[in-house]
Amino acid sequence: MSLLDDVARIQDEALKRIGEADSLESLKELQIAYLGRRGSVTAVLKGLGELPLEERKAVGAAANQCRAAIEQQLSLGQQRLASPKERTVFDPTLPGTGQRIGVVHIVNQVLDEICHTFYGMGFEVAYGPDVETDYYNFEALNFPPNHPARDMQDTLFVEGGRLMRTHTTPVQARELEKRKPPMKIIMPGRSFRNETISTRAHISFHQVDGFLVDEGVSMADLKGALVAFCRAFFGEGLRLQFRPSFFPFTEPSAEVEIQCFLCRGKGCQLCKYSGWLEILGCGMIDPAVLEKAGHDSEKYTGYAFGMGVERIAMLKYKINDIRLFFNNDIRFLRQFV
Ligand code: DAH
Repeated sequence: MSLLDDVARIQDEALKRIGEADSLESLKELQIAYLGRRGSVTAVLKGLGELPLEERKAVGAAANQCRAAIEQQLSLGQQRLASPKERTVFDPTLPGTGQRIGVVHIVNQVLDEICHTFYGMGFEVAYGPDVETDYYNFEALNFPPNHPARDMQDTLFVEGGRLMRTHTTPVQARELEKRKPPMKIIMPGRSFRNETISTRAHISFHQVDGFLVDEGVSMADLKGALVAFCRAFFGEGLRLQFRPSFFPFTEPSAEVEIQCFLCRGKGCQLCKYSGWLEILGCGMIDPAVLEKAGHDSEKYTGYAFGMGVERIAMLKYKINDIRLFFNNDIRFLRQFV
């Protein structure tokens, strides 16, 4: 048999075996077996020098063509056996995959909207620290030491005698100390309580407090401001109702309920068939709070209010579990674009 026949046989066998290879490893082995330093095609090429010229030319050409055919077959085999992702051919005419654009968290959206509404009514914005002293969280707000009203606020204490503020009302105490009347301020921020986490309660949540101090401020001013806020925020034509309540830092104190904006007072699941939704606490600032901050409570009076942002967001967007805000499930958050 001539060398040319050998080359043809090697080529047929190689193409067949490469075509049947079922892994990248076996392809590699076949490549070594045929084209490696000791491979059969290499052996033919190495032996060319010993051949007469005419035969050398013919066998050399056949061997080179054989090597090229094997290389091509190997590369087809690699494409066939590579992972599907690597195998896909880039098609520039297909539409792109696109990138989703992030959105402001729904709690921050609602918080911003509340602030914006009051901002439009002439309120300034002030902030205070999340880690507070007992003085600003309680004492300056007329909670004496050991007063039972402190029980309402399940406090998380931290090292050094400080605590995580249980409400944003301490910012009111801080601003009252710093400024002179007239003052008209809202104070958004986080609050913390040692609550058992449930559908309605969380250890960390957001509040917006607000207050106004000036000469001759009355409960009518408080009602006027809250009615204006509720109209702007929840919609026109809804009635408000003030129910007596208790907070150490306001006297008198009230809880405000708004006519259910879903059923307009007829009764539905959202308002638990009462027709009303409780949205905030408020009252006239207790004279003792003004005096503690150095203001003459004979001359100045003021009102204050405070609301939970998650609570309002839950009402507005009919969300039935507060934990949804903090689980960071993108499928939930993405709904509020
Ligand atoms: N700080 C109260 C709370 O967390 C809410 C509140 C009620 C704030 C009445 C006020 C207010 O400023 O006047 O439950």
